[in-house]
Amino acid sequence: MKARIVTLPGDGVGPEVTAAAVAVLQAVAAHYAHDFSFDEQLIGGAAIDATGEPLPAATLAACKNADALLLGAVGGPKWSDPNAPVRPEQGLLGLRAALGVYANLRPLTVHPALASLSPLKNEKLHNVDVLFVRELTGGAYFGAKTRTADTATDECKYTVAEVERVTRRAFELARGRRQHVTSVDKANVLETSRLWRSTVIRVAAEYPDVKLEHQLVDSMAMLLLTQPNRYDVVVTENLFGDILTDEAAALAGSLGLLPSASLGEGRKGLYEPIHGSAPDIAGKGVANPVGTILSVALLLRHSLQLEAEAQAVEAAVDHVLQHGPHSRDIGGDAGTDAVRDAVLAALNDHANSSNASAD
Ligand code: NAD
Ligand code: IPM
Ligand code: MN
Repeated sequence: MKARIVTLPGDGVGPEVTAAAVAVLQAVAAHYAHDFSFDEQLIGGAAIDATGEPLPAATLAACKNADALLLGAVGGPKWSDPNAPVRPEQGLLGLRAALGVYANLRPLTVHPALASLSPLKNEKLHNVDVLFVRELTGGAYFGAKTRTADTATDECKYTVAEVERVTRRAFELARGRRQHVTSVDKANVLETSRLWRSTVIRVAAEYPDVKLEHQLVDSMAMLLLTQPNRYDVVVTENLFGDILTDEAAALAGSLGLLPSASLGEGRKGLYEPIHGSAPDIAGKGVANPVGTILSVALLLRHSLQLEAEAQAVEAAVDHVLQHGPHSRDIGGDAGTDAVRDAVLAALNDHANSSNASAD
């Protein structure tokens, strides 16, 4: 198939992990006879430096025209002055809003070979398989902001329609999994959470086959560590989802391992690892590319409907996590390129053995 893919390397380790993931997409195209074109665009701090804006009009136009988008990360100390008039993160938020990608899927599994890296005891990590569905285009991130010399506000607003659509997405996804949705809110304190909870309860009635439970976000932060294998689909608002998924990444062994897919109504999606620009290791060639490579698998699955190819990428990553080489964050000494090459080799073996069995 033909597909136009816009790449948005961004800042810090963004370009390093994006390059590794593009190499994987190119290998998929070669093995499975697809025609993927790549169009690299500016976003974040790199875009501010080049154009003064974190999301230039040319970038947005290219993204609107693409079948799928692959992003590295944005931000870094260079642009982090709390009084700066413009920030790299505004580029990413603007892109999410412009594309209407309201559902951010962040799957968490724990590879047995990495369980010893988790701060949790091994037995807690058996059968951990959680799909976080984070609302991505509402809440405090997008409400009105004010700032004077001595006061600042971030309005947190949700509409029923915003909660309904992300809830439906979570229940649909739960139907293809273990039919269990946990909705996380702070309904004991926040009005937005009370609207969230009553909307979720109403939508849940459309899915009698799926079990719903509610959990307050503070206790959820604890339960994620004490009983992570209790959860199937976890749906929550923007800020809670941001925080809980970085916490969840610690269970997997590293923030560098988790992918994400941001989806709206159509097939087009924005794919990115959940980590940031990792300024402490940027430019050293040591970033773990696995979160971005697994994001490519999600891109193949959700935007291009190439399930076999998505599974081939996941199997190749699985093989590398099992046998190495491992990057530093997961206890090894391999650089980004060595991990990429190992994934490419495993993908090659996988594709050749599938071709052989098809003959
Ligand atoms: P971060 O995710 O960049 O880094 C946190 C820690 O995890 C660091 O020690 C880092 O070295 C490590 N880490 C992250 N990714 C890694 C990888 N692939 N391999 C190995 N180690 C990895 O979070 P931060 O330091 O809080 O934020 C830095 C900047 O990134 C900020 O400007 C923030 O706004 C931005 N950010 C961007 C995104 C995004 O673009 N989607 C996401 C999160 C943070
Ligand atoms: C993420 C990041 C972003 C967010 C920032 C960079 C805007 O932390 O993708 O998780 O908070 O959504
Ligand atoms: Mn985050």
